[in-house]
Amino acid sequence: MDSAEDLNYPQILFQYNHGFFFSKTMFTACELGVFDLLLESEEPLSSDVIAGRLGTSTTGMERLLDTCVGLKLLRVELNSEGVFYRNTEVSNLYLAKASPKSLYHNMMYYSKTVYLCWHYLTDAVREGKNQYERAFGISSKDLFGAVYRSEEEMIKFMYGLNEIWSICGRDVIAAFDLSPFTHIYDLGGCAGGLAQECISLYPNSTVTIYDLPKVAQVAKEHFIPPEEHRIMFHEGDFFKDPVPEADLYILARILHDWPDDKCMHLLEKIHKVCKPGGGVLVVETLLNEDKSGPLDTQVYSLNMLVQAEGKEKTSSEYSNLLRAAGFKEVQVKKTGKLYDAILGRK
Ligand SMILES: C[S@@+](CC[C@H](N)C(=O)[O-])C[C@H]1O[C@@H](n2cnc3c(N)ncnc32)[C@H](O)[C@@H]1O
Repeated sequence: MDSAEDLNYPQILFQYNHGFFFSKTMFTACELGVFDLLLESEEPLSSDVIAGRLGTSTTGMERLLDTCVGLKLLRVELNSEGVFYRNTEVSNLYLAKASPKSLYHNMMYYSKTVYLCWHYLTDAVREGKNQYERAFGISSKDLFGAVYRSEEEMIKFMYGLNEIWSICGRDVIAAFDLSPFTHIYDLGGCAGGLAQECISLYPNSTVTIYDLPKVAQVAKEHFIPPEEHRIMFHEGDFFKDPVPEADLYILARILHDWPDDKCMHLLEKIHKVCKPGGGVLVVETLLNEDKSGPLDTQVYSLNMLVQAEGKEKTSSEYSNLLRAAGFKEVQVKKTGKLYDAILGRK
């Protein structure tokens, strides 16, 4: 940013200026089913055929496809019969709905919910609070009541949260040897993506997903196969209701949602019921100690401002919270991916 070249031609500023064009192009191609169609077709298709099959205008589709080529989400082939498009490997793997590693629901959640909240970032910074009320006209008093605007919305949000664990789940679960902990509670475990990673790596363990009643019911119905007896459910509110005794408590993307006093309340409650020798595994994205990066985590923290009540933290901030709640031998493991792991022992 400091070089003379940047000062004469501020390319980096232009990129930031239209950064959301890139996201919206990808979201729109996902939403219209471009990547699904090209995965199914197994042969490159022209823009006319794609527009016809997806029921869009040809002029709009052609521009969308060309921009996806620029974003390296599609490949273009020119031959004597015309111009044809096919998916890149990245799109087949992560953007087509049928892929086991698909991020489709995550993209749709960003497009339909997160994007609308970010429209009010200025208000969020001025007021220091999330923007659910402005964006959706729904009270954000009960944060997850606001996130789950309808059952349909809740299922999509749950798919979106779960998809990340098909990519990063193994790394955070393998960051520490969790085999001594056989009786595990995943607090706010949602659709169970991390619970499934856990029982696959530690087959002698059972994981109980503790979540709000409507979330636990949907997870049981839509996400966890009924024959999977190593994953159980506990319906409750972890702030108000008792938390049962266990060897290990997982808190994945929970502490970043809440202000420090609520995090402390929850951690102290867990410490009280945790078996001696047991522990708590915090899974979060970590800021550098001087908060100079990583950029992804910095913007996630702004996202917490716009959407939640908490923020992203440094490893020292999490470690201090764990120690203040009574946990000892706090260890931090960076995975090199988006999410890291912190283990505290009782
Ligand atoms: C940001 S999501 C994280 C989900 C999951 N741990 C993950 O990383 O994919 C927060 C989860 O906490 C649950 N939750 C929020 N408030 C809760 C409460 N008071 N008691 C129990 N669960 C709660 C939500 O329903 C949601 O499943």
